[in-house]
Amino acid sequence: SKPSIASVLHSTEQLPQDSESSKSLTINGFIRSVRKQKRFCFAAVGDGSTVQPLQAVLTPAQAEGLSTGAAVTISGLLKRSPAGKQQDYELHASDVRTIGEADPASYPLQKKYHTAEFLRTMPHLRTRIPFNSLLLRLRSHSISRLTSFFADRNFVQVHPPIITSSDCEGAGEVFTVADQSSQKPPPPSGQHRREEPFFRDSKYLTVSTQLHLEALAQSVGNVWTLSPTFRAEKSDTARHLSEFYMLEVELSFVDKVGEVLDVVEDMLRDLAQSLQESRLGKELLQAKRSFLKESWPRITYTEAIRILERAEAEQKVDFEFKPDWNNGLQAEHEKYLAETVGKGSPVFVTDYPQAIKPFYMLPSASDETVTDGPTVACFDLLVPEICEVVGGSMREHRLQQLVAGMKNRGMAKGTQQDFGSLNWYVDLRKWGSVPHGGFGLGFDRLLAYLAGVSNIREIVTFPRWVGRCEC
Ligand code: 4AD
Ligand code: MG
Repeated sequence: SKPSIASVLHSTEQLPQDSESSKSLTINGFIRSVRKQKRFCFAAVGDGSTVQPLQAVLTPAQAEGLSTGAAVTISGLLKRSPAGKQQDYELHASDVRTIGEADPASYPLQKKYHTAEFLRTMPHLRTRIPFNSLLLRLRSHSISRLTSFFADRNFVQVHPPIITSSDCEGAGEVFTVADQSSQKPPPPSGQHRREEPFFRDSKYLTVSTQLHLEALAQSVGNVWTLSPTFRAEKSDTARHLSEFYMLEVELSFVDKVGEVLDVVEDMLRDLAQSLQESRLGKELLQAKRSFLKESWPRITYTEAIRILERAEAEQKVDFEFKPDWNNGLQAEHEKYLAETVGKGSPVFVTDYPQAIKPFYMLPSASDETVTDGPTVACFDLLVPEICEVVGGSMREHRLQQLVAGMKNRGMAKGTQQDFGSLNWYVDLRKWGSVPHGGFGLGFDRLLAYLAGVSNIREIVTFPRWVGRCEC
């Protein structure tokens, strides 16, 4: 097999310093640019394994017909570049084969600056741009590091379902799975036989796998997943997608929400550490280091509201939406908290009002300091720019309290003991229920933050958001 360009350029077995040494080599790659001169031609060749191209030195005959975007296999001698050149090595070609041509008249990614908006119109091609291919490698690296992190701690990786029968978050942002059988045209015979629906009643694409993870955490202990999730949110922002990956974790036999926060903190610090030590860390010039900070502030929601109110009163900031304990945090509030309280590290905000959170959350351990209303043992993790990257909570594990809370929210049907598609979830509290909690990390938001990319649509190769799903 042929070496990647990364292994050629960053190999630990470097060629000796003397200009005479060389190594015979064959590489596969794509032409990023060709510079043709009278006696020699220079082709920058990339293969997505590193941002830096390998420079191939060709004769005019070898370079004939080569153009940006073409796929090539080049054999030759790798030598140190003469002193003063931009690159350390160059490949003096003995054989150049064009494997796939790229018509220069039509290939859209010629060597020049392209705006993010322009590249977004061609998601099937933009990963050929070195920075975009770097983002793919960041994703791959992160998945493998997180997988080791959880394996080392004996968490079980699970595959919860994508098609579900309930809206976990209760926010009404579910995509309904279209029932194919009811959309078939009538048979040509003209006989209209009414087909049964595929599923008996409405099914949805999952907005969060949490409820299913809760079931599994009570069988095999701590579990985690990295799964696709879907939200029919009509939010046309730099942070919202209709389809995104969520890393979810559920811990059983935990009593305090702080234990869940500890896992989030350790996990993200471990990932940041691994990036710092890898070549990716150097290639990502904008990479955010804040996860490496030693301890991250933890404040309650009520404290956060007081900080925001004080900042306004002292005219340090003028929010579009006035901070209000009953209304939750707006993005502008989260940004302010992340930037001022965090001072360069991420910030946990805990214990939000029960009224603005989903039905499954456990009440806070102590409400003594809070006079505004009941709160729940939950948290969000905030970082600058992206704002919320993680949301989690302790779950109500006591049957009576869960049932009472669901009834209060009007989730019961008929007999008042029937919770329809959530009966199985209530059942979990009947037998061997244990205190537990967990979180969901917006994986694409995390990658956007780590890479210093301001819009999540650049992090996902084929992004889907309101009104957009072309390719
Ligand atoms: O805060 P959320 O809604 O929490 C849950 O769904 C919980 N059931 C998770 C759990 O406890 N297991 O979503 C979790 C994270 C958010 O913090 C955010 O980072 C990300 O998912 N997220 C989105 N990312 C991209 N596009 C969207 N439309 C997102 N909605 C949420
Ligand atoms: Mg949330």
